[in-house]
Amino acid sequence: MAQAEVIDGKAFSENLVKMVAVEAKSIEVAIGRAPALAVVLVGEHPASAVYVRNKIERTTAAGMRSIEHRLPTTIDQATLLTLIAEMNADDAVDGILVQLPLPDQIDEDAVINAIAPEKDVDGFHVVNAGLLATGQQSLVPCTPYGCLLLLRDQLGSLSGLNAVVVGRSNIVGKPMAQLLLRESCTVTIAHSRTKDLPAACANADILVAAVGRPEMITGDHVKQGATVIDVGINRVPAPERGEGKFRLTGDVDYASAAEKAGAITPVPGGVGPMTIGCLLRNTAVAAARRFNVSIGDI
Ligand code: GUN
Repeated sequence: MAQAEVIDGKAFSENLVKMVAVEAKSIEVAIGRAPALAVVLVGEHPASAVYVRNKIERTTAAGMRSIEHRLPTTIDQATLLTLIAEMNADDAVDGILVQLPLPDQIDEDAVINAIAPEKDVDGFHVVNAGLLATGQQSLVPCTPYGCLLLLRDQLGSLSGLNAVVVGRSNIVGKPMAQLLLRESCTVTIAHSRTKDLPAACANADILVAAVGRPEMITGDHVKQGATVIDVGINRVPAPERGEGKFRLTGDVDYASAAEKAGAITPVPGGVGPMTIGCLLRNTAVAAARRFNVSIGDI
């Protein structure tokens, strides 16, 4: 059985980060300091703590300044909003990221929308979502941006291709669909309630899985030769590795999908590394735009 080409997001991301490091240096020369990313972690969510540690390490490794705010789970919304207002007003902060999820007493939308749009390196602010939807310059959410870079690298022009995005989150599904539309794809958004998902995916030249359900997308959903992008990162029990052990798996059943796909991203090592690469890129872009420094487009 033919096997799909494996899309190496880790290698692509390493090159992207090298490019961002060069951009960061040229911004530093122009404005007299390195681009700075402030990361806010509320509480002790274990996965969030790992993500944030990773983001901080990579930011510094790319020659940018990392500013860290760790707040207790019990923090109230007013205190968090005050911190955001201070960072908005601080000229030495270029990017602000508040790690999600937030504790129940905090209104996530209110927090996201309190971030100055030009510092919103997650691209989640309603202004950035609106700018993207209307084809204007914005900061683009990191994970879909990373998926788009991999797709462009794999396929060249995406114009006219049929793209199906499975998942409708504000973080991935919706912005992914907007980006693909901007590339002149014919875009379908499917989700967990779609009636006949294999039928909805049958004509997809590009299939992006972002439903958050382990291995839900199988070979039955994949058109022969399609490019499959797996956004999922799910931790599932792996008794074959020993009692209490886990493994990481995507939203795609890799073995069956790879038999039909032309190319596919693995988990781990596919989309995951691209998210951080794009966050660093967004931080450089935010700094460059704020101070009118010219860096290239990607
Ligand atoms: N939690 C899971 N993914 C993300 C992300 O991309 N950004 C933020 N801020 N929080 C997240």
